[in-house]
Amino acid sequence: MKDPIETERLLLRELLESDAEKMFEMDSNPNVHIFVGKKPLTHIDETHEHIRLIQQQYKDFGTGRWAVVLKETGEFIGWSGIKFITNEINNHKDFYEIGYRFIEKHWGKGYATESGKAFINHAFNIIKVDAIYAYADAGNENSRKILEKLGLQYVNSFEYEEETEVWYEIKNPKF
Ligand SMILES: CC(C)(COP(=O)(O)OP(=O)(O)OC[C@H]1O[C@@H](n2cnc3c(N)ncnc32)[C@H](O)[C@@H]1OP(=O)(O)O)[C@@H](O)C(=O)NCCC(=O)NCCS
Repeated sequence: MKDPIETERLLLRELLESDAEKMFEMDSNPNVHIFVGKKPLTHIDETHEHIRLIQQQYKDFGTGRWAVVLKETGEFIGWSGIKFITNEINNHKDFYEIGYRFIEKHWGKGYATESGKAFINHAFNIIKVDAIYAYADAGNENSRKILEKLGLQYVNSFEYEEETEVWYEIKNPKF
């Protein structure tokens, strides 16, 4: 298991089976799914399967979404982090992508930005990736604002799974 990352308010660590209950609370909420496929989960087994899949990504690629935990209370509030994507999206394949998702009551407190900054720093300086990409539904204004706060730049719009998506990138300045 990789060492956790600490930020001012957050602890970022690999996901555990014991995160399932809170993660299901997040993913069964239709508001969370408005811009991410519109298919809220209906059974916690789906969350267990998702966690196992992510843990396999840690083994296969050395990275994947991590749990975001409030340092003050130890509470799981969502996930964030760098996923290695092997299928083709917007003419890219085998690339590192940043993403985030939080339990609704924890929105609007800057946690996506705070965790995102730490993951970009980690990806550039520890994993040493040459670029990080992201995509979001064109209408997901909150997500687009976060990507811009993280220093990613808009590149183009494209169609994916019957939605118009926007593509962003940031290059590692050290390369
Ligand atoms: C999109 C999502 C991750 C946003 O999370 P978030 O934590 O609210 O995002 P941010 O980090 O940008 O924080 C939002 C606001 O908190 C405010 N804030 C409050 N306290 C803050 C603090 N101490 N530090 C920084 N910002 C703070 C910020 O001002 C910011 O508002 P602004 O952008 O209007 O200035 C969240 O809404 C979510 O999980 N949505 C569902 C899943 C989803 O759509 N994921 C993205 C798919 S591409």
